[in-house]
Amino acid sequence: MKERLFWILKNYGISDRIAKAFLEIPREGFLVKRYPSSYVYEDIVLVSYDDGEVYSTSSQPSLMAMFMEWAGLDEGMKVLEIGGGTGYNAAVMSRVVGKKGLVVTIEYFEKVCRIAQENMRRLGIENVVVVCGDGYYGVSDLAPYDVILATVGVDEVPEHWFRQLKDGGRVIVPINMKLSERQPAFLFVKKGNYLEGGYKLETRFIKAGGNLGNLLERNRKLLKDFPFRKAIQVPRLHVFVELVDLLTRRLTRVNGIFYYVGSEGVVEFLDDEMRIYGDAPEIESLLFQWEECGYRSFEHLVLHIGYNVLSHISCTI
Ligand SMILES: C[S@@+](CC[C@H](N)C(=O)[O-])C[C@H]1O[C@@H](n2cnc3c(N)ncnc32)[C@H](O)[C@@H]1O
Repeated sequence: MKERLFWILKNYGISDRIAKAFLEIPREGFLVKRYPSSYVYEDIVLVSYDDGEVYSTSSQPSLMAMFMEWAGLDEGMKVLEIGGGTGYNAAVMSRVVGKKGLVVTIEYFEKVCRIAQENMRRLGIENVVVVCGDGYYGVSDLAPYDVILATVGVDEVPEHWFRQLKDGGRVIVPINMKLSERQPAFLFVKKGNYLEGGYKLETRFIKAGGNLGNLLERNRKLLKDFPFRKAIQVPRLHVFVELVDLLTRRLTRVNGIFYYVGSEGVVEFLDDEMRIYGDAPEIESLLFQWEECGYRSFEHLVLHIGYNVLSHISCTI
């Protein structure tokens, strides 16, 4: 059965090192819910834990393998996984990074986290550290990381992750788009004050709880009154709102209307017009760049997400 999965992964163009790691880890050892053995090595999502209150899944193996491939996961690396679940993916990655490497995985739900810890102990997997908590904060004690890989849909790449990543390190992350409710996965590389990169493919993960899943609420608390300054007509405004979401991490929603919440002003996004209250230089400069790039959607742009500096885009992929 495992051999079949190996060949499925090879058909996806997955390297030997990563595909072989799936041969070494028994997926059934991470499923609290019992499945017929023929199911366990299918290339599908399986429910790993469900007590009626708390729920976790074991992600689709080919998607996990692609994430590892894009991350350039290799021997000796230190990787932080966000959304540990019962630990299957972390265990597979532990085989890819080998004894000289380390996998740190963080899981939000205590019950699921304890199961992951027990699974590692039972299977004698020593180079995985399972931490219980909100992945929003990363795991600073064991930083810096070569790779941060999320197996849960998150609202943003928080500054904590950025700080815990090595320069040149990679982030693979499915992001919950607030307007379209899509969940595209992105690959970013840390370069100085930026995460640079872009779109890879569509996914459907569990949406994160805790601070990784409440960005709109957190930003809503920052809303303040500013005087109306001007209205700008914008073609394909919904496409621009998604860029603002990804690049500023400052979107909120009130009564179904999206707003950008800046430190000097607020922007209200209506059907084909944005209304600026106070000042929003970040948004005006992004709009200018986006016009220069021909109003393309995020899939066709390079994103430069700034941390404590302004974000920008470039047109050529
Ligand atoms: C798709 S499952 C993870 C699959 C897992 N990597 C595996 O190999 O089985 C997503 C997990 O993310 C967890 N999660 C949700 N919000 C989280 C957060 N804020 N921090 C860490 N984990 C979170 C969920 O409880 C769930 O177990």
